[in-house]
Amino acid sequence: MTALDAISIITTKRDGGELSDEQIDWVVHGFTNGVVADEQMSALAMAVVLRGMTRRETARWTAAMIASGQRLDFTGLPRPTVDKHSTGGVGDKITLPLSPLVAACGAAVPQLSGRGLGHTGGTLDKLESIPGWQADISASRMREILADPAIGAVVCAAGADLAPADKRLYALRDVTGTVESVPLIASSIMSKKIAEGTSALVLDVKVGSGAFLKTEDGARELATAMVELGTDAGVRTVALLTAMDTPLGRTAGNALEVAESVEVLAGGGPSDVVELTLTLAREMVALAGLDIDPAEVLADGRAMDHWRSMIRAQGGDPDAALPRARHTEIVRAERDGTMTRLDAMGVGIAAWRLGAGRARQGSVVQAGAGVEMHAKPGDSVIAGQPLFTVHTDTTEAIPGALAALGDAVTIGAEKVAATPLLLDRIGI
Ligand code: URA
Repeated sequence: MTALDAISIITTKRDGGELSDEQIDWVVHGFTNGVVADEQMSALAMAVVLRGMTRRETARWTAAMIASGQRLDFTGLPRPTVDKHSTGGVGDKITLPLSPLVAACGAAVPQLSGRGLGHTGGTLDKLESIPGWQADISASRMREILADPAIGAVVCAAGADLAPADKRLYALRDVTGTVESVPLIASSIMSKKIAEGTSALVLDVKVGSGAFLKTEDGARELATAMVELGTDAGVRTVALLTAMDTPLGRTAGNALEVAESVEVLAGGGPSDVVELTLTLAREMVALAGLDIDPAEVLADGRAMDHWRSMIRAQGGDPDAALPRARHTEIVRAERDGTMTRLDAMGVGIAAWRLGAGRARQGSVVQAGAGVEMHAKPGDSVIAGQPLFTVHTDTTEAIPGALAALGDAVTIGAEKVAATPLLLDRIGI
């Protein structure tokens, strides 16, 4: 019998030991109920960052976080459930075209999403720029939407009851330098996805300057841990490693990204956004056991029909004009050449400074703010040609954004080879 008190659990992990199932259950439960203090959980999180956790410990930690709240159950729906989760990147609006596309292919897509923090935007912030659209809906309404063959996809805020231990722990990790740990990130993401009740899951694990994980090895380790957790919990799980050195598409910012997503649903849009949407959709429909080509469903307008009904089902008006920022400014190329680098992190910081993201949990974002990119790496440019348009309601934000963009872009003389978007695939 191992000791069930916070200090023994912290010191066991600090000294490189393994925690027993009982210790993990006790400490996660105690933290959720206030028996384990924030400073004790912070110390334990730091010990985990430094010492790691085994596969068994990580699986038990995830199960304990799921057990701290409610678990949704979508069994009995007439269609298979499948979801996607991205570890977050700049200009990553893929959920917007992907969810209605996969629903139009015949699956039910329950997407519990978050709001953005820092340089990566949140899916809910993007959708909230559509007039009338509501992120908060009940579990019963969610089920109705998923069962409706004309809709089939829902993107909404996770209720307070879904893995509450993770919500508290994530807030603590955010302010104690304990985010960067594979077992803690994997258990945090997978506890929410397993509690959400999906039967299958495709993970888009980003690699590069604009991602959480800068190296392919780190991303592969996280992807493997998440695939193992999903598989052990009975969720068919596949992870794709995709590049995030440069932003996805040509926009970063809430309403700007919605407009770009609608272009993709209308059959246009930037080629990288279309490619990643179709790659993820193919994985999702295969995991759902459906024999259908998502490219056809995108091309013939069925995905757009599902988008429109999905937006209406959550109170939004798909025909309403999207909000626009009060001020815009164009940034022009200073010389002729080829764009050899457009750093995702720099563009994310610029969009965030313009008001598209938030610095603190709970602060308000500007729907119209962000960065439009008129050139991407590999494009030839001539002096004076527009490279970016920045959008904001707050003119005082512009100099900081321009400084970030100036550092993010390189115009050189050499040609650049196209880099692949898909780096690896892990799972069944
Ligand atoms: N996203 C999460 O939900 N949790 C983490 O720990 C990191 C990213």
